[in-house]
Amino acid sequence: MTATYQAHGDIAVITLDNPPVNGLGHATRTGIVDGVQRALDDAAIKAIVLIGSGKGFSGGADIREFNTPKALQEPSLHTVIRVVEDADKPVVAAIQGLAMGGGLELALGCHYRVATAGAQIALPEVKLGILPGAGGTQRLPRVVGVEQALNMIVSGTPVLSEKLAGTKLFDQMIDGELQAGAIAFARGIADQRPLPKVRDIRIDYKNADGYLQFARNTVRAVAANYPAPQKCVEAVAAAVNKKFDDGLKFERDCFLELVQTPESKALRHAFFGERAASKIPDVPADTPLREIKSAAVIGAGTMGGGIAMNFANAGIPVRMLEVKQEALDKGIATIRKNYENTMKKGKLTQEQLDKRMSLISGTLKYEDLGLADIVIEAVFEDLAVKEKVFKTLDDVMKPGAILASNTSTLDVDKIAAFTSRPQDVIGTHFFSPANVMKLLEIVRGKKTGKDVLATVLALAKKIKKTGVVSGVCDGFIGNRMVEQYIRQAGFLLEEGCLPEQVDKAVEKFGFAMGPFRMSDLAGNDIGWYIRKRRYVEKPDVTYSKIADLLCEKGRFGQKTSAGWYDYKPGDRKAYPSQDVNQMIVRHSADLGVQRRKVSDQEIVERLVFALVNEAALILDEGIAMRASDIDMVYLTGYGFPLFRGGPMCYADTVGLPNVLRSIRKYGKGHHPEAWKPAPLLEKLAAEGKTFN
Ligand SMILES: NC(=O)c1ccc[n+]([C@@H]2O[C@H](COP(=O)([O-])OP(=O)(O)OC[C@H]3O[C@@H](n4cnc5c(N)ncnc54)[C@H](O)[C@@H]3O)[C@@H](O)[C@H]2O)c1
Repeated sequence: MTATYQAHGDIAVITLDNPPVNGLGHATRTGIVDGVQRALDDAAIKAIVLIGSGKGFSGGADIREFNTPKALQEPSLHTVIRVVEDADKPVVAAIQGLAMGGGLELALGCHYRVATAGAQIALPEVKLGILPGAGGTQRLPRVVGVEQALNMIVSGTPVLSEKLAGTKLFDQMIDGELQAGAIAFARGIADQRPLPKVRDIRIDYKNADGYLQFARNTVRAVAANYPAPQKCVEAVAAAVNKKFDDGLKFERDCFLELVQTPESKALRHAFFGERAASKIPDVPADTPLREIKSAAVIGAGTMGGGIAMNFANAGIPVRMLEVKQEALDKGIATIRKNYENTMKKGKLTQEQLDKRMSLISGTLKYEDLGLADIVIEAVFEDLAVKEKVFKTLDDVMKPGAILASNTSTLDVDKIAAFTSRPQDVIGTHFFSPANVMKLLEIVRGKKTGKDVLATVLALAKKIKKTGVVSGVCDGFIGNRMVEQYIRQAGFLLEEGCLPEQVDKAVEKFGFAMGPFRMSDLAGNDIGWYIRKRRYVEKPDVTYSKIADLLCEKGRFGQKTSAGWYDYKPGDRKAYPSQDVNQMIVRHSADLGVQRRKVSDQEIVERLVFALVNEAALILDEGIAMRASDIDMVYLTGYGFPLFRGGPMCYADTVGLPNVLRSIRKYGKGHHPEAWKPAPLLEKLAAEGKTFN
């Protein structure tokens, strides 16, 4: 039973009861329709109150039913709303906590609405690339006005109920207990006729055309790659210009069109991908977690400082350890500066800053860390240094403490073997800047305990990261793939491109930043350092030496005001560099390569399909558990365009046989050795299947 019925004298109370957010799944929808019918059939009942159990009214569609036949099974949400609206006894929606999406649409179908303060009111469908499909775009403008409604529908952002008090959305704000207040309200209006319906309200808005045109222009400019926000504007325009039922039909048509767009599929894929990533098949949901009440970080450099901020932001005290006092002071000063910058932007108060800084402390002595529940090592990327650190941690940390490494490339199993407790060791690979980037790659060693993995996944959520589990391999999921992407970017330079062309093509595809701008930002010396090690270990892996030549000139990127591009002091804008471009052309000549014009399409395909091909190996090897995990890594850590859903989702959209055909074509080019099709890609393409 997911909607219950109870008579309180002459008022029937139907309670939505489908935790956690009273999603409008099939059973709940049925329960509402049955409840309304029962109330209508009972002569003793004069009015009906619709209320939610637990913390809210309703969060809308039940996401567990998405993509299942039950989502469409009658009674549909449309039917429920019609039954409520057509009832010949008044129906009152009693709102607290939240009324979102279909939940708000249901409330708008009721004759009256009452609410307590603090409820989140939203139509968030646009975030999934669709629009409210059960009358939301037609009814909301009728009660809160065109501008307010359009803002809510286009942004999907929740608005607090008290901010909407005074509009026709709420007939009364209730202080105190909601159900009692709603029953009293229902009794007060029980005999009033005719029953008010939102659909009958006339929109009286003088400058509608001008405003709607302004909205169209704005939305087109800020959400060019997303069709849904534009359709939202058109649907609201229909509410203004068409009769209610015609507007409803227009909304429905838009909804059906949007559901089929690749952008909506990508957004829904990311939504579910985020949830799937935290589920590990062999780690049961009820695995007992270790308590994380305090943390320690080794190394107060670029990453250590950012990692410490994550703990402080989540209210967890954290102590940083350095070898020298100067390094420690510098690390803590950098953190303070970061917070001060956030405060200047108005996103943090002085009080919050003080609180967070009070949670961060420093030390030079390992003994001061011993009681921490988790310690994250972020020292130099050098196995010998890590060995020393982990041997010491093994000596000083209390039993049961989690010992984590932020290594980007080193073998977590080797690191675990430096200790006598490999079950407590795990990789926590943050991305720079660690206090900002959403991604946390969680590296599961061969011996990592299930409870340790579950605890770190829960911690990721607590510090507001997207935790994705990776097996142990060089570079884990993200960097192992990006190596192939960077490799292709280098070959493209040899064959005829300049950095600017490559970056522009990739940015037009939707990446936040092309490979060369990204490398200038991260520091070209980091890759140089890694290449020196990697290509000694794997001498037969080919790559363009242009990046090495660049580093030999000291062009490390933004930090040296010179990288693939030139930079001016205090300005992050990348200016094409004559010197670098000449060096690239010369290098092609030295290699005897005849430079040619490369199309933007070839640039994008080579970079993105290089990612996809490596990802197929990673998936096949079990380093990633599912294709959507790989997509989440790229969406949250590498600036892959969200509206394309990640590399695997994009490959599925292109069609795997098409991807494979392109890979084979590029395999006949300048560097065939870089294009060996992954067996899993060949298999899925042959079987007509997809990654996701
Ligand atoms: N920079 C990035 O973009 C990035 C991203 C992900 C992961 N990582 C990884 O994070 C780790 C740290 O990288 P970083 O960029 O912060 O380096 P960094 O050079 O900025 O900081 C390293 C800090 O560790 C300190 N340190 C060195 N040896 C120490 C020891 N034995 N005990 C205590 N402190 C010691 C140094 O004084 C320095 O302050 C590396 O493993 C790196 O591969 C870096």
